[in-house]
Amino acid sequence: MLSWRFFYFCAMAKNEDQFKKVISHAKEYGYIFGSSEIYDGLSAVYDYAQNGVELKNNIREYWWRSMVYMHQNIVGIDAAILMHPTTWKASGHVDAFNDPLIDNKDSKKRYRADVLIEDYAEKLNIKAKKEIEKARKRFGDSFDEEQFVSTNPRVLKYHSQQREVLERMARSLETENLTDVKALIEELGIADPETGSKNWTEVRQFNLMFGTKLGASAESATDLYLRPETAQGIFVNFLNVQKTGRMKIPFGIAQTGKAFRNEIVARQFIFRMREFEQMEMQFFVRPGEEMKWYEYWKETRLKWHLSLGLGEENYRFHDHEKLAHYANAATDIEFNFPFGFKELEGIHSRTDFDLKAHEEYSGKKLQFFDPEMNESYVPYVVETSIGLDRMFLAVLSNSLQEEELEDGSTRTLLRLPNILAPVKAAVLPLVKKDGLQEIAQEIVDTLKWDHNVIYDEKDAVGRRYRRQDAAGTPFCITVDHQTKEDSTVTIRFRDSMEQERIPISEISEKIKKSLSYKEWLQ
Ligand code: GAP
Repeated sequence: MLSWRFFYFCAMAKNEDQFKKVISHAKEYGYIFGSSEIYDGLSAVYDYAQNGVELKNNIREYWWRSMVYMHQNIVGIDAAILMHPTTWKASGHVDAFNDPLIDNKDSKKRYRADVLIEDYAEKLNIKAKKEIEKARKRFGDSFDEEQFVSTNPRVLKYHSQQREVLERMARSLETENLTDVKALIEELGIADPETGSKNWTEVRQFNLMFGTKLGASAESATDLYLRPETAQGIFVNFLNVQKTGRMKIPFGIAQTGKAFRNEIVARQFIFRMREFEQMEMQFFVRPGEEMKWYEYWKETRLKWHLSLGLGEENYRFHDHEKLAHYANAATDIEFNFPFGFKELEGIHSRTDFDLKAHEEYSGKKLQFFDPEMNESYVPYVVETSIGLDRMFLAVLSNSLQEEELEDGSTRTLLRLPNILAPVKAAVLPLVKKDGLQEIAQEIVDTLKWDHNVIYDEKDAVGRRYRRQDAAGTPFCITVDHQTKEDSTVTIRFRDSMEQERIPISEISEKIKKSLSYKEWLQ
């Protein structure tokens, strides 16, 4: 009989294969290149190419509209990357923005100790899932999952082991007991995932902030940090925005922008980068009302994800066992990436930690006078924080599909949500003669005012369709000889490959209809 281990490794290999395809597709179709590739690149730093930058802009826009335009009490800002160095003292990043690091003495590979332990715990979870799936098959329609999970001894054992491991790790990290983190790794028999060696160094803390200098000469230069999160730019501007925007609590400030972290392990393409972009929103609320808003934002943010149609089964919440130094509740929205469920977005109830700390370090009051309560207070904050690059990876990896066609051939397509697709339509003259090129070019010139469209005349039309399918273009507009007679074209839909004949005058409206923010976001 084949063991669960066999199936686990088969599934892993299949997923790894899919992940490799995503990475090479991203390069081949102009989405992502390694940074400074001609010099062999820079580890965990990437450039967005001609299609990538459009997809990224569209994701950012989709987020911005949903957060800022759809909420009358949320406004946006764009704070500087460089901030006064005391900001990071107040926020706790100088003292506590660390990851526990461990090296393998044989392989010389470096790992995050907490990630090694979390991966071990996830394997226990997978074992439990296997048991559940086996039982589902055995019992068929009469299977009661809830009852099985709460009574089956094996599932109970796996779940309780998983809980114990994670709780012990959380306790040890919380109390900075790094000796116990190492002991846990040894007790669980965790080996270097690449070489199998169990010869580990001690666990030690590593600060993730990048330092830099401001000033003309070495003597007078000030030490600065590249911001490791965009959130602090919002906190330090809290009162400026509240006063100038005459905002009343509850209200939010949104921001998108670059953040930098000197990650210990940055191996999963754009999942964990050293330079990346965040889309964050801090929602300022009355003290004591934070849990209500925390629940609101959990639900609202999940709804935003689901609106893109990447599949409800690909999302789950994961509540934090170890809370960050500023939070009293925190959860991740995890996405089913090709390498498994991982954090895509964080929703944190940050209490009044940040504003109070900035009050203390700056000596300035950061309070709100609440006219209804007739009192001033430091607001509490609920934060939603999503990595733009991670969202990009979620969309790209979920959209890359291979489809078997009736004639036995396969086609590769990037089934991107239309609203996010970099190029909305490709206009194709059927042949390069008889005036078809000129008509196609005219159509491009009309459509370009409303949509990002391209003109493509190279190769047979069938190949051009496939090229656009793989690039993620939702519509192909073909100009043929009939166009000259009745001013109609065919419009071909990427997902169904169906074609329709429509007047040229209706093309723009047809494309527009599939790009309505109202339809997508509601
Ligand atoms: N202001 C809160 C904050 O920064 P975080 O959980 O450290 O919280 C928020 O980061 C989000 O930023 C994550 O959910 C993830 O999507 C993204 N992110 C964090 N580190 C990243 C990295 N090294 N590369 C890419 N995205 C990252």
